[in-house]
Amino acid sequence: MKIAIIGSSGLLGSDLAAACRRAGALAVEFSREKMDLTQPGAVRNALPAVSWVINCAAFSDIEGAQHQRAQAFAVNSEGARALAVSCTRRGIRLMHLSCASVFDGHKSLPYKESDEPRPVNVHALSKLAGEKAVRGEGGKPLIVRLPALFGSRGKTFPAELLASIREKRFPLKVPADETVSPAYSRHVAEALLQLVSHGASGIVHLGAHGRCTWVEFARALLERMGQEAPIEEVPAATFYPKTERPLHTVLDAQRFREWTGHALPGWQQGLECWLADTQEAGAPG
Ligand SMILES: NC(=O)c1ccc[n+]([C@@H]2O[C@H](COP(=O)([O-])OP(=O)(O)OC[C@H]3O[C@@H](n4cnc5c(N)ncnc54)[C@H](OP(=O)(O)O)[C@@H]3O)[C@@H](O)[C@H]2O)c1
Repeated sequence: MKIAIIGSSGLLGSDLAAACRRAGALAVEFSREKMDLTQPGAVRNALPAVSWVINCAAFSDIEGAQHQRAQAFAVNSEGARALAVSCTRRGIRLMHLSCASVFDGHKSLPYKESDEPRPVNVHALSKLAGEKAVRGEGGKPLIVRLPALFGSRGKTFPAELLASIREKRFPLKVPADETVSPAYSRHVAEALLQLVSHGASGIVHLGAHGRCTWVEFARALLERMGQEAPIEEVPAATFYPKTERPLHTVLDAQRFREWTGHALPGWQQGLECWLADTQEAGAPG
């Protein structure tokens, strides 16, 4: 199996490349230098003959997207469309990644694939536009919506929290009003390959089993590190004063379980694996 990974230098793209190596699949990796989705003809000229393309490339700066709307849409929507056009023409399967933030967060139950997206900020609008662009170009694309991720790179909330604990920046300021099902990107990468094996198309949600607030996540992180530290519970809006965000982004992963027979581990297990991998990689404990 030969898989092209677009955005291979990012948080998920790099874990996906590693998961391919472990699974014995041949990954052709495309950093932005090798394939810039915003450059006309870049996809057409660079895309090799593969069975699947997995699009991990994204304009990920949620705050930045508010004032860089054109750039966000260029990558998240038009870049995704360019991939879909080439994949459909050449009979290549496309997996495109989207996010739980396409929903407004007003639902108290986990979001199902049948729920109506209602983006509340520019980044989420650009991600939903990307989903529509991909689905509008024919073929049999698979759109995978993801929850908040954490892993070995990127400026994720859990990574910032871990850095604050290590640097003893106390009290830890942690949002108390956001409910999430955060997943370890290594586990998500493995789940994406399970979807490839299944050959799925359409839309599917992925999420770690269970849900928590970031305060609960922070407490679990401290406990597993054997540390005690004061936590100051703050509103999520403290961190993102200029951007409205959904406060509930838990996704219902039942369809994923039915399709693949697998489930992502719970967020606590994801957290434990992440910490173990981080310590093994030599980060100061
Ligand atoms: N991280 C999360 O918490 C989260 C949550 C839900 C959904 N997702 C989705 O999951 C996917 C992967 O996210 P991630 O966290 O791995 O993202 P990331 O760490 O920000 O990585 C994004 C990748 O896209 C590349 N990229 C940016 N602009 C590009 C362009 N014009 N052409 C080609 N490549 C470009 C980046 O390259 P450079 O490094 O050179 O900029 C980087 O390799 C995205 O679709 C994201 O929306 C992520």
